[in-house]
Amino acid sequence: MTAAALPPSPPLSSPSLSKVSPSPWHTGDRSFLDADVDALLAQLTRTEKITMLAGADWWHTVPVPRLNIPGVKMSDGPNGARGASFAEQTAGIALPCETALAATFNTDLVHAAGSLLAREAKDRGAVALLAPTINIQRSPLGGRSFESFTEDPILSGILATAYINGLQENGVSAVLKHYVANDIEHERTAVSSEVSERALREVYLRPFQIAVADSNPLAIMSSYNRVNGEHVSESKELLDGVLRKQWGWDGLVMSDWFGTYSVDTAIKAGQDLEVGILRKWHPAPADITPQMPGTAKWRTPYLVEHLLAARKISERDIDACVRNVLVWAQRTARMSPETVYGDDIEVTNDRPEDRVFLRELGAKSNVLLKNENKALPLTNVKRVAVIGPRALDKTCFGGGSAQLNCSYVVTVLEGIKQVAPEGVSVEYSLGTSSHKMLPYLDGIVRDDGVAGADMRLYTTLAPGAPVVHHYRREASHVLLNDGVPDSLQGKNWFAVMSGTWTAPITGAYEFSLAVCGRAKLYVDGQLVVDNWDVLQTPGETFFGHGTSEEFGRLDVVAGKEYSIRAEFSNIPGVMKDAPDVGQICNFGLRIGGFPVVDKDAAIEAAVALAKDVDAVVVAVGLSPDWESESYDRASLVLPQRTNELVARVAAANPRTVVAVQSGSAVSMPWVDDVAAVVQAWYGGNASGLALADVLFGNVNPSARLPITFPVREEDIAAHGNFRSANGKVLYSEDLAVGYKWFLERKLTPLFPFGHGLSYSTFGYSGVEVSRTDETTVEYSVAVTNTGDVAGSHSVQVYLSSPVSNLAHPVRHLAGIATTGILAPGTSERVVVKVTRRELAHWDDLLHSWSIENGKWKVFVSDDALSAEQLVHKFDVRGRHEWSGL
Ligand code: BGC
Repeated sequence: MTAAALPPSPPLSSPSLSKVSPSPWHTGDRSFLDADVDALLAQLTRTEKITMLAGADWWHTVPVPRLNIPGVKMSDGPNGARGASFAEQTAGIALPCETALAATFNTDLVHAAGSLLAREAKDRGAVALLAPTINIQRSPLGGRSFESFTEDPILSGILATAYINGLQENGVSAVLKHYVANDIEHERTAVSSEVSERALREVYLRPFQIAVADSNPLAIMSSYNRVNGEHVSESKELLDGVLRKQWGWDGLVMSDWFGTYSVDTAIKAGQDLEVGILRKWHPAPADITPQMPGTAKWRTPYLVEHLLAARKISERDIDACVRNVLVWAQRTARMSPETVYGDDIEVTNDRPEDRVFLRELGAKSNVLLKNENKALPLTNVKRVAVIGPRALDKTCFGGGSAQLNCSYVVTVLEGIKQVAPEGVSVEYSLGTSSHKMLPYLDGIVRDDGVAGADMRLYTTLAPGAPVVHHYRREASHVLLNDGVPDSLQGKNWFAVMSGTWTAPITGAYEFSLAVCGRAKLYVDGQLVVDNWDVLQTPGETFFGHGTSEEFGRLDVVAGKEYSIRAEFSNIPGVMKDAPDVGQICNFGLRIGGFPVVDKDAAIEAAVALAKDVDAVVVAVGLSPDWESESYDRASLVLPQRTNELVARVAAANPRTVVAVQSGSAVSMPWVDDVAAVVQAWYGGNASGLALADVLFGNVNPSARLPITFPVREEDIAAHGNFRSANGKVLYSEDLAVGYKWFLERKLTPLFPFGHGLSYSTFGYSGVEVSRTDETTVEYSVAVTNTGDVAGSHSVQVYLSSPVSNLAHPVRHLAGIATTGILAPGTSERVVVKVTRRELAHWDDLLHSWSIENGKWKVFVSDDALSAEQLVHKFDVRGRHEWSGL
């Protein structure tokens, strides 16, 4: 795809922002780049060292100006670089979520995504990206499943390697997360993942091991949870034993934010850096220096010195951690000296080539799940109806720390309108709403005329009070984790979120307010929602610290402007049954709004439209409110009346195509009744364009499912053992995660792992086998495009182990390889290499990797479950045992 072939780029929804916070500690002296780390360590005072054991603020390590040691700036996260503030976010690129990246089954594309993320991180002044997330999608219901690549450990490791290499070759340190077995959100800081030694090694540690071996991430984030009773952040065995001793890795271990639960135990286990600091904020004030200790929660001079005196830790333990911080700082400084020594400026860059890439990446991640009677691509159509709640929705990622201020978003409706060939008319109908919470208020603008809301902080709400700080928010919500000015720390303070809102309809409009603190919402001076003087109800908002939504209605007139004013205070509200959820969030405010919908009439209108047109695209799915960090999904069912809408539209129009936006699997009870289904994930900035390219055939789909789509929750391997119960979750399925469970139980999924259709067909021929040693076999396969549309194809190679007295998965993925775009009738050879790593199982008697002797079978297959095409058999003999990489 070339830039010239594209419709014009949509305008930026917000202008380039830039923040300047001159760094007080950089003197221009770059001696640190060549400094001897041990010599530096020897020059640090004990107080300086203790201070360096924790972050300087939410997003920086502690600099030491007198020794020219810079602070390292980090940014979330897996699908974009948000920059150093939740409260005031510099606009940036949102890539497709990680499940979508995985669906490309294309390591070159994932590598390119990593390279783009490196540029984005540096545009935000950061040299470390808190990514990728490589936890295993044990269940699609996991709140953060969208943030992880896949249910398969080997695929996860391969993709993580590509992503990390893309990042680190371009000067940005990966922070691989969350180590390890952090696969649910329920009671996430307490829950113990009860997992067998084999499953821990073969499933949950394995992607980390592959990534460490093949891409050497410079940092790893320890997870919130426990494994078999012990917090990972305090596990000498997992941090020091596995990472450092067995795998020989010498990077930095940082905590998850507030994921430190002790002083001496965590330090001795090898958790080098405590991160998630309450007190400081960005832009970094000049007082962040080692002379201002006390920002950490645990690693304060007082506590650390106390424990030194009690001989619970030694100076050596501290030195070991600080050394790793210094080494990491030096490595990142060497990779990107201009950024590390820069002025921490955050900019937005909107490059035409990135727009082209994002669109291509998005299209190549859309999985064509079903396509009957050539319903797709949408040719020979004059009128197309776009129906459904996701068509207008601007959120293009999952919730929590993966969220960012997206520089632009092309919605499904806009994308289809832009890409539809001339002469095709596109009409829209809502059909049903599908939000869990009312969406952010659409149509609100700030004082400067830009879409979003102003947020002004005060010491009092008395008229005329001076503004302490003014945030310009891109939407009607704010999370003030890292955003409270020093002068307000520890005090009661107030804020007003305001804007001018133009009503989109005439009739009843519903508003809502959720808060971490207390708040009231006024529309044109009229109190509409009170979440201040009430007994607050705990909700899932603000990482589980906030209230549920409170609602209020108002009759509004289309096109009329209304003033919006939400008064806020950090004084905690009175909450019944306040949850015990840890400390990640301080304060937050969220204004929602949506027209009051007559639900029956909305479906009837959509069905009437569907009857009248040549084809229908129903855009359905989830959103960051359904799939988010800090809570899990309750079910696979699509929200509200989505299923009813799809079924009724399908009955009205035989050419009904369903596009699903979600980060993981959903159930599809209507699947037999619709003509086509595209899994579009959360597609980032270019979501709508990417989907439209697939729908109209500009791009021939080539993506494949990196997860199994089950028919029902009961078929998920983790079913019945998914929530934390008494602080534990039992990994009872053991090795049989994802498709391995379906194979073992002979269950039929909705769509299997690896499945994905194309507008063309492909065939394999001429398998060549080359065996270089007992445990290394290389397969070369010719892939031919046997259809009449150009396209690419991914080859999946699976292995079956010899029968032995140990149980093994029926079959497991050994590797993938993807062709370039093949013209009809042309072929390309691809190579998949099987090494001892793909053959190994963990022997829990020997506590080492081992390989079964006997006959191994190798298959090429179009998905994990369908008929195998046997490629080869080979014998392994002799002892193969090792415990390292
Ligand atoms: C998440 C991490 C994230 C960090 C910083 C935590 O809540 O678990 O993945 O990087 O916050 O936002």
